[in-house]
Amino acid sequence: MSFKEKIDPKRLPKHIAVIMDGNGRWAKQRGKLRVFGHESGVTAVRETAEACAEIGIKYLTLYAFSTENWNRPKMEVDALMNLLVKTLNKETKTLMDNKIRLGAIGDLTQLDPQCRKQLQETIDNTSGNDRMEMFLALSYSARWEITEATKKIAQLVKEGSLNPDDINQDLMTSMLTTKSIPDPELLIRTSGEYRISNFLLWQIAYSELYFTPVLWPDFRKEHLYEAIYDFQHRERRFGKTSEQLNPCIK
Ligand code: IPE
Ligand code: IPE
Ligand code: MG
Repeated sequence: MSFKEKIDPKRLPKHIAVIMDGNGRWAKQRGKLRVFGHESGVTAVRETAEACAEIGIKYLTLYAFSTENWNRPKMEVDALMNLLVKTLNKETKTLMDNKIRLGAIGDLTQLDPQCRKQLQETIDNTSGNDRMEMFLALSYSARWEITEATKKIAQLVKEGSLNPDDINQDLMTSMLTTKSIPDPELLIRTSGEYRISNFLLWQIAYSELYFTPVLWPDFRKEHLYEAIYDFQHRERRFGKTSEQLNPCIK
């Protein structure tokens, strides 16, 4: 029985976030340049997006390029940006076929004009799709996002339109780039690294974390379904006791 068949369709996470890691090592294992790993990672992006849409996931957020990734060699950064433009163009059909609406989070002002133009075009072209929303985190980092949110709040206080006593968690959430979507219930990281690398720090406060040794270019639908199956066998306690959650079981 495949993992897809074992999943309980009534207890799906609404939002899955993925740290797509391991492209460089995948290429190195094959004696190729890192860029080859990034190109091969596109298949995994397509598979993951399709797998989520097929099963009924509503939101998928993919960490594609971090603020810190700007510090990589220029050749790699340029190649990643070119790949982004090429992929958005080529995969628009996949997004349309699966009724996926594209969105982006991050400091998009840092992207070069050609990238931003292609990104905006794909966002516009897919804006009528309603099966699933897929966000690319580009030039994103959680510390950048939280700092920006803090600046916005400080500005409102300075203008006199916000009382500091009214600053609460809901207000903070509404100032983040993910304000329109629920927090991810499940966060997946590939490539056997056990860290968050500045991704969605506020939003993953109570996410279930799932780490797999699979390198991103090898990630396929069944890997995604395995992660969801694993998620469905966790007890999410949110600070309560197991007995509180299951009063009938002694
Ligand atoms: C993830 O793969 C893609 C990006 C961060 C852009 P890496 O490029 O980090 O691959 P490894 O971790 O070096 O193997
Ligand atoms: C995290 O991967 C960022 C993305 C997947 C886009 P990195 O490969 O940049 O993370 P570190 O440097 O190993 O923590
Ligand atoms: Mg990496």
